[in-house]
Amino acid sequence: MYKTSPAVIVLLLLLQLLNSGQALENGLARTPPMGWMSWQRFRCITDCNKFPDECISERLFRRHADLLASEGYADVGYEYVIVDDCWLEKARDNKTNKLVADRTRFPSGLNALADHVHSRGLKFGLYQDFGTHTCAGYPGVIDHMQLDAQTFADWDVDYVKLDGCYANVTDMAEGYPQFGRLLNATGRPMVYSCSWPAYLEDAYPDYESLIKHCNLWRNWDDIDDSLESVFQIMDYFGKNQDSIQPQAGPGHWNDPDMLILGNYGLSYDQSKLQMAVWAVLAAPLIMSNDLAKVEPRVKAILQNRDVIAVNQDPLGIQGRRLLAKRDIEVWRRPITPKNDDQEYSFAVAFVSRRTDGEPYGVTFSLKELLLTNSKGYSVQDLFEPKSNLGVYEADSQFSTRVVPNGVTFYKFTAL
Ligand code: GLA
Repeated sequence: MYKTSPAVIVLLLLLQLLNSGQALENGLARTPPMGWMSWQRFRCITDCNKFPDECISERLFRRHADLLASEGYADVGYEYVIVDDCWLEKARDNKTNKLVADRTRFPSGLNALADHVHSRGLKFGLYQDFGTHTCAGYPGVIDHMQLDAQTFADWDVDYVKLDGCYANVTDMAEGYPQFGRLLNATGRPMVYSCSWPAYLEDAYPDYESLIKHCNLWRNWDDIDDSLESVFQIMDYFGKNQDSIQPQAGPGHWNDPDMLILGNYGLSYDQSKLQMAVWAVLAAPLIMSNDLAKVEPRVKAILQNRDVIAVNQDPLGIQGRRLLAKRDIEVWRRPITPKNDDQEYSFAVAFVSRRTDGEPYGVTFSLKELLLTNSKGYSVQDLFEPKSNLGVYEADSQFSTRVVPNGVTFYKFTAL
């Protein structure tokens, strides 16, 4: 009988080990991650004497973990509390080389903070940067990748956002996958958010590698607190949808950046607009706002279970900008349930780019909307709880009225 020599067995085992480290397959983010992150609202505020409620400190993250749990956000799916930039000391520990959280702003240390977040039934996320420094100038991971991946695991981190400032873009194709493998090798499951494509400028991202190694990735520029910024991101996603849209799916998502609802820049109707389009885009729903200050009607948008269900649809198919008619854009996403003929249902957002004051009435045939199920659809207004607009046959017309820079959002359930 043929006998395998011990040397061959060792070689096979080694190959298997190498191979198992290749793909991300961490089983995480089967639907787009939901949570809260500090950056857009709190940036790099570090003066806790002047701004005790706003500075990047353990107090800010404890407060937000508490608010996610007590204000109903956790109940509808918001889960990750993510510390963005400016949490570090400017230098590593000079004996161990480990990263050190700012000693005055995080006096209890990150394990204690992670414990607090976990005690609220939530998960803990942390920002770092692939380069020599983070975007705000704190130490990055590049020369200490293994040590830092292990430190994250030791701190009970559940989600890592790896930014790309102060790095050579040409090193990223190797470096981002490598850090992902190092995270996996710790044995602690951590969602891995890669900012790599956002640093490529016009170059085409290596989506195959992103899908294999990252749970989500920032495609483009940072969001700011304005409708203009929301529209710019939408236009980027719309114009590039042929390359971007097919890449999303369970475990790997495009990230158009944070939800800015609840801050200074968006009106009530504009807040609905961002929420609806982010649902169509299968975007991570990561809020960045002061949860103590979100007014009740905006909180209701953030907690709209029907809209969240579209975002979290188990098929994980990202939607697209389908067409525009007289400056009303149609954003459409296939969702569950499928009917007996395997026809999809759809979420359809009508986004007004108009600024003439009246709510603008517009009519589409179902065919124009590519809603072609021969048995028609039953229709629900997703911003009107339990609404039932009745049945629309395949050859019918659908009319809606959209306020300036606002949205209407419907679910068309295939009959
Ligand atoms: C970059 C990222 C932002 C934020 C900042 C922090 O600009 O894109 O999301 O993390 O860095 O400095």
